[in-house]
Amino acid sequence: MELGIRAVKPREFEAEALVIGCYENSDKGKGIVEEIDKSLSGLISRLKEKGEIKCKSGEITVIHTTGQIAPERVVMAGLGKVEEFKPDVIRQVVASACRTLAKKGVSDVSVCFTPDILDGGSNELLSQLVAEGAILGSWSFKKYVTGEKNGNGVKQLTVLVASEDEVSAMQEGIHKGEALAQAANLARDMINEPGNFMRPEDMVAVAREVARTHNLEINVMEESQMQELGMEAVLAVGRGSSNPPRFMILRYQGRQSEEIDLALVGKAVTFDSGGISIKPSSNMETMKMDMAGGASVIGAISAIAALKPAINVVVLVAAVENLPGSKAQRPGDVVKSMSGKTIEVISTDAEGRMTLADVVTYAGKLGARRIVDVATLTGACIIALGEVTTAVFGNNQEFCNMVVSAGDEAGEYMWQMPMYPEYKEQYKSDVADMKNVGGRDAGAITAAMFVGEFAGDNPWVHLDIAGTAMISKDRKYWTKGGTGIPVRTLTNLALKLAETIK
Ligand code: BES
Ligand code: ZN
Ligand code: ZN
Repeated sequence: MELGIRAVKPREFEAEALVIGCYENSDKGKGIVEEIDKSLSGLISRLKEKGEIKCKSGEITVIHTTGQIAPERVVMAGLGKVEEFKPDVIRQVVASACRTLAKKGVSDVSVCFTPDILDGGSNELLSQLVAEGAILGSWSFKKYVTGEKNGNGVKQLTVLVASEDEVSAMQEGIHKGEALAQAANLARDMINEPGNFMRPEDMVAVAREVARTHNLEINVMEESQMQELGMEAVLAVGRGSSNPPRFMILRYQGRQSEEIDLALVGKAVTFDSGGISIKPSSNMETMKMDMAGGASVIGAISAIAALKPAINVVVLVAAVENLPGSKAQRPGDVVKSMSGKTIEVISTDAEGRMTLADVVTYAGKLGARRIVDVATLTGACIIALGEVTTAVFGNNQEFCNMVVSAGDEAGEYMWQMPMYPEYKEQYKSDVADMKNVGGRDAGAITAAMFVGEFAGDNPWVHLDIAGTAMISKDRKYWTKGGTGIPVRTLTNLALKLAETIK
């Protein structure tokens, strides 16, 4: 999608459709609606009187202008009740306007919202939200359907502003929105890719492409090098597959220092069959999404590199396939992790925490000052929070708060869960230092705490995205399938951290 900005009166700008916004119960942003209404001889007012346009949140009404003004259609986008409004509503209505129009074959759209619709919001934020909504909302994954293409929606989106003075702030916002949404869409593409086309080596290919595009340093290790490092927990998980594991390290340097300000670790099980503790076959196909954590940190570093904050970020992804081959690890095995801690394998299906154990250990050895790991870790997390909210765990309250508020800005809901030491005894083992399953009770918590054992005293946050990484029906600007959560949260986090780092 091409995004542009023009300082032209909306009624004079030729496009197939012009999108404008209205509140259900407020005059905010009314100026532009009145102007268009007048040019259409009061048509909008009449439709409102008849109750055909209510401006309810997310309501999209397409009006044909029959040559009275330059745009062929006016789209009224409902912003809902002013007291319930959040900036995220802009993303949602732009996404749904784009989808509605795309279905009608419209590909050239203009949008005009005035900043007074956001309380204290800037032109920059407004255009960022518009760009995010348009790009996220136009994503689709159809590459394996003969005759169809990915993201076959609106092609041109022009943001209209009142004067030339506003253009540069708007440009900044569009650039940011584009970087965020394209990065999320990259993760979504990877997540939707079937397991036979997204093997560990295929994830490496994507990471290399991201590194090439953004000039990032990349280092990829094969099994032998992982062995030298002692990454036995990762290797144990990968042994049952003939597609060998890979360990990727990407570096973004945004400031002159050797220090690593933030390490982003992603679980990347390219397919999780459960291994010898094999999963039931129903819905097993969804386990192609078990690399969503890895996809999201690769996505995040691409957005970070595009936005260039003054912070040093490292992305660490151990990609591995969990299959029950003849060399597969078995329940009862004891594995010595990179940290030296031994793990008793109770279930080979609790493989994510094993791979994270080594990668989080590695992040600590690199000297990362903060670590965030992202993982489709537990079914228990889905039971607790569903597809709507990501579970947040951490050993540093300030850092947890920062992540939650970065998520809030992104419209990616986050909710912190407890990690009381009392849960620890659930994953104590008689034969090793710990076992990889802590029982059914508090399953998301014991999994998080297991990973936390490898983070040491470094500020660390764990995001369980088992429910939010892939959704079973359309919601907001997301369509069924990969969501790209938490790419935008992680990018916001890096931008925020950059402001505090010296
Ligand atoms: N990848 C799964 C978790 C998962 C389940 C993600 C459903 C998304 C949707 C993970 O590897 C797993 O299998 N976890 C087990 C752990 C159990 C064996 C302790 C689970 O949650 O059932
Ligand atoms: Zn599993
Ligand atoms: Zn898994």
